[in-house]
Amino acid sequence: MAPTGPETPRVLVTRKMMPDAEERISKVFRATLNPDDRPMDLDEVLEKAAAHDAILLTSFDKLGPEFIPALPPSIRIIATHSVGYDHLSIPQAKAKGIAVTNTPGVLTDATADIALLLILGAARGASWGDRMVRENRWGATTLISPMGCDVSGKRLGILGMGRIGQAVARRARGFGMAIHYHSRNPVAVEDAQGAIYHAHFEEMLPSCDFLSVNCASTPETRGMVNAQAIALLPDGAIIVNSARGDILDDDALIKALISGKLAAAGLDVFKGEPAIDPRYRTLENVFLLPHIGSATPGTRSAMAHKCIDNLEQFFRGERPADLLT
Ligand code: DGY
Repeated sequence: MAPTGPETPRVLVTRKMMPDAEERISKVFRATLNPDDRPMDLDEVLEKAAAHDAILLTSFDKLGPEFIPALPPSIRIIATHSVGYDHLSIPQAKAKGIAVTNTPGVLTDATADIALLLILGAARGASWGDRMVRENRWGATTLISPMGCDVSGKRLGILGMGRIGQAVARRARGFGMAIHYHSRNPVAVEDAQGAIYHAHFEEMLPSCDFLSVNCASTPETRGMVNAQAIALLPDGAIIVNSARGDILDDDALIKALISGKLAAAGLDVFKGEPAIDPRYRTLENVFLLPHIGSATPGTRSAMAHKCIDNLEQFFRGERPADLLT
């Protein structure tokens, strides 16, 4: 039976979660679920928040910078069902005394798998190849067309060598790729596994046949992969992004894909998604996915349980394991 006592914290859950997680949260909290999975706008979330102590939300909720300042005083904690938290202002939350937690660790493998899919899909023409077959445009195969690019044995530059970047590196080594990386600091030798550290992003770029974006979106990284960065890549390089869309400058990327400076790109995330720059839809040499890095039942369930763990810890008076504030 769902708890009803006044001492039981009330949790607003903005999106439908995996059934096991919905069952658990309804057992331990007075949870308001979203069984129809209807996206809520800022006004609706704020209105509902007034009757709750906590919000479990996602990075797909587009609540904007007005969200945290406008939250009612009843809200004590926000658990985001994501590892990325660029959709929330941590300083604003801190200033209001609201705790924020995220879900690191449990989506590392699923997201790294998608990064590899992007590398392979972009390089080998998964997108145009699939369309060619579906649209019945598969004519006589010749020895010179259609053709993709080699992956095995190439050099991969990783921007952001956190958990996901390291998991991408592990997978890429299986393809005999030489790993270079740039992050604020070098990782421990046992985590680098021979990957070459570049203290400056620009210094790494000439060594990247592939560039995989795996850093968080922060004021420092937004727009980091811009025209100047792309110009430093070898001609015919491939960029893949499974982190956040705003780390790439769309205009620069699209120009480089059209000019042939870049052979291809693989993108799972986009600035302003799902309203992506429409030019991407017209380009043959981009492999596009709809932000599915963590989209497997096991991973989404683990993410939801991590949110619930954090909420339980918080309401027991403990420090939540994934506290960001
Ligand atoms: C994450 O967890 O940050 C994924 O990108 C889903 O938002």
